[in-house]
Amino acid sequence: MDYITSIAIIPLLVGCMGIFGLFKFLQWVRMKAYIQDSVVVITGATSGLGKECAKVFYAAGAKLILCGRSNERLEELIGELIATNIKKVETHRPHAVVFDLAESKTIVPAANEILKYNGHVDILINNAGVSYRGTIMDTALEVDKKVMETNYFGPVALTKAILPSMIEKKQGHIVVISSIQGKISVPFRSAYAASKHATQAFFDCLRAEVEQHDIEVTVICPGYIQTNLSLNALTADGSKYGIMDKTTATGRSPTEVAHAVLTAVGKKKKEVMVADLLPCLAISLRTLSPRLFFYFMAMRARKERKGKNS
Ligand SMILES: NC(=O)c1ccc[n+]([C@@H]2O[C@H](COP(=O)([O-])OP(=O)(O)OC[C@H]3O[C@@H](n4cnc5c(N)ncnc54)[C@H](OP(=O)(O)O)[C@@H]3O)[C@@H](O)[C@H]2O)c1
Repeated sequence: MDYITSIAIIPLLVGCMGIFGLFKFLQWVRMKAYIQDSVVVITGATSGLGKECAKVFYAAGAKLILCGRSNERLEELIGELIATNIKKVETHRPHAVVFDLAESKTIVPAANEILKYNGHVDILINNAGVSYRGTIMDTALEVDKKVMETNYFGPVALTKAILPSMIEKKQGHIVVISSIQGKISVPFRSAYAASKHATQAFFDCLRAEVEQHDIEVTVICPGYIQTNLSLNALTADGSKYGIMDKTTATGRSPTEVAHAVLTAVGKKKKEVMVADLLPCLAISLRTLSPRLFFYFMAMRARKERKGKNS
């Protein structure tokens, strides 16, 4: 490289870095403005990822409506949020709405209460969910239905109840926390994987259908997160599993995933994987070589069964 060329490259590099920095800054400003003062509804705010989402959206200046099954735990969280010292943005006192997503008759009244509070919803985060552990043969159909009610019909019903107000306003953002298991099925998780596959399919259809109304749909597909999900999982007879699985215990921190949710929403992403390379490769393998994927899953089932019997 001669002297003239090297002199020309340095300002070019500095210029590119400057443009990139400016682009990132503008993106950050736009993201901040999108979340700040927006009415954000979060289901399943009493625990795990929902609770962390409440913290990051509160710190970003959102007007939160926190949903859960326990008023006491929601009020406890609201107290915790208010006690945090946030200086950069104006914060708003969150509001609690209590209802059970698996009880279909409670959803429309809950949606009405949500809409009454600020008159509209800007961002609905369908986060609440329950997991499952068991063999298909041993699992009572009632358990399959309970998982579907909580993870699929509940969010669908809530979304349908909120959607008309978004369409009327020609503005809104619907987010759903799916899972890697919304893309691939893992043995002994049938009800959970089925509910997340259904969720993925429903919200993919919704995205296409509401685009004409300027409504955004974001599907988040996390891998394992360190939450109470496995402890709270339902077993074949409907009782709680009560075990912290190693995969869950060694998963990503809920704070990290909550920040990924905030960024995905701020950037209006259509779909985001928050997972390691291996689960992402498994999704590709399911498409490119289903036979090989099924072989690995059968191997995994054999191994897990052997582990339980030994
Ligand atoms: N943890 C993971 O490894 C992982 C991975 C991928 C995706 N996800 C998804 O992330 C989301 C959040 O789960 P998490 O990991 O944070 O688990 P979590 O700690 O067990 O939290 C689940 C939340 O959902 C609520 N919930 C459960 N059943 C409900 C019902 N019938 N009605 C209303 N709320 C209900 C729970 O409320 P209560 O406190 O009242 O039980 C709790 O607030 C779920 O959709 C889950 O499928 C988790």
